[in-house]
Amino acid sequence: MQQNPRHLLSSADITAGETRFLLDLAITLKKRPQPVLAGRQLALLFEKPSLRTRVSFQVAMRHLGGETIYLAPQEVGLGEREAIKDVSRVLSRYVDIVAVRTFGQEIVQEYAEYSGIPVINALTNEEHPCQALADLLTLKEKVGDLKGFSIAYIGDGNNVATSLALTATALGMDVRIAAPKGYSLPEEVVSESTARAQASGGRLTLVNDPAQAATGAQSVYTDVWTSMGQEREAERRRIAFTGYQLNMELMSKAAPGAFVMHDLPAHRGDEITDEAMESQESIIFDQAENRVWAQAAVATFLLGAAGEVG
Ligand code: CP
Ligand code: NVA
Repeated sequence: MQQNPRHLLSSADITAGETRFLLDLAITLKKRPQPVLAGRQLALLFEKPSLRTRVSFQVAMRHLGGETIYLAPQEVGLGEREAIKDVSRVLSRYVDIVAVRTFGQEIVQEYAEYSGIPVINALTNEEHPCQALADLLTLKEKVGDLKGFSIAYIGDGNNVATSLALTATALGMDVRIAAPKGYSLPEEVVSESTARAQASGGRLTLVNDPAQAATGAQSVYTDVWTSMGQEREAERRRIAFTGYQLNMELMSKAAPGAFVMHDLPAHRGDEITDEAMESQESIIFDQAENRVWAQAAVATFLLGAAGEVG
């Protein structure tokens, strides 16, 4: 248990300087995995399915000498079998850190309020901060300094888009979001990302036209049209997102050699084509790999062990 544990609930919780620190720490840990979290336990409290987030946290903790306990969606019943504040206080007595994947952002906020250990947002309806860190780590490995680097996100202004916008604008990137009317970033995310861009010399541009966003962009990113929990809206969304596909025609408008990005799972043939996913420029599986090292850095940082990394 800690006095005032530091959490990562939103990408807005970390400053530009902390983001750079985390990316450098991730690069160091990837080069030299080391047991800085020996004896520490991470609980994975998941209310939605997962491949990448679950396995990458488990592998990350193992690389750092720690352990994990996985709690599947049917097991805990956050706020149903038991009050959120009770689950939070109980887990605080058992483990050292917890990653929570759930529905509304207010659930992780309430969870963290009662937690005596650091809480990591492992995806909510509103945010996916670990994904954004892994994405920027991947780009940093490819191009070095990210200041001024352009990224066009095509599709739904969802959790992935939100965390990407908040994190990339903090680093001074040129962020363009192309979404259909009614599906762009939430207003408060636009104002926070704009403020971050102003402070960093970056830029946030919101448009409806995918071609406009992709033109000259050095990377083009997309995510599913229907996120977990929105399954009933799938048909309506399929119609709304017609024309918002990441395909080779769209990539032909981007800068030569522009990267193709997706957080996965992908719905091939919907938001992205097979051809784009399999293209030379695709760094999609590097993004997936880097979840391990981004999250290794987050856990090390939140547990106050970054100073021990050599
Ligand atoms: N990208 C991502 O978070 O994947 P999972 O849903 O499989 O964890
Ligand atoms: N936007 C997607 C991301 C999955 C990793 C979802 O929330 O389902």
